[in-house]
Amino acid sequence: MSKLKIVSFGDPVLRQNAKPVTVFHGKLHTLINSMAKTLKSSSNGAAIAANQISVLKRIIVIDYDKEYFELINPEIIASEGEQTDYEGCLSLPGYFGLVKRYDYVKVKFQNRDGEEFIVERTDRLARCFQHEIDHLDGILFVDRMTEEFLVGDGNDSKIRRQDVIDIADGKILTESKR
Ligand code: NI
Repeated sequence: MSKLKIVSFGDPVLRQNAKPVTVFHGKLHTLINSMAKTLKSSSNGAAIAANQISVLKRIIVIDYDKEYFELINPEIIASEGEQTDYEGCLSLPGYFGLVKRYDYVKVKFQNRDGEEFIVERTDRLARCFQHEIDHLDGILFVDRMTEEFLVGDGNDSKIRRQDVIDIADGKILTESKR
């Protein structure tokens, strides 16, 4: 079980579709354990999707608000209401943007052994589920933002949403890639 590298906006894997998990064996368990460890050692991450560690499989680990979930092949089967709040991402540290989401979601998923479950949540956990399931479809929170700028964490800096989308799409190279 090792800590994995979290990729940043601009890595093409964040724009790709993750494939359903069909085999629930020991290797899957090792991968999920590593995702959980990686999430725990990140500074303020609430959740991680497999795309973020360069694995195109439909796996999400959430450790947020004293709740822990491992969601394999998650699917939103019902939703209701709306909420708008700031959202960030482990793949874009230090910046947050306003995103409108459903206030309630009902999610069907499998656990690490392939057993099916249903979970219902509102508010922040519902937001978290939607953000992470989007990752599995190559969708990033900036795609759903309602304002033109993202704001810096604890400072006055701002970055334009469109610039972040261009970075995510590989149209603007970031310092580390030059
Ligand atoms: Ni994210």
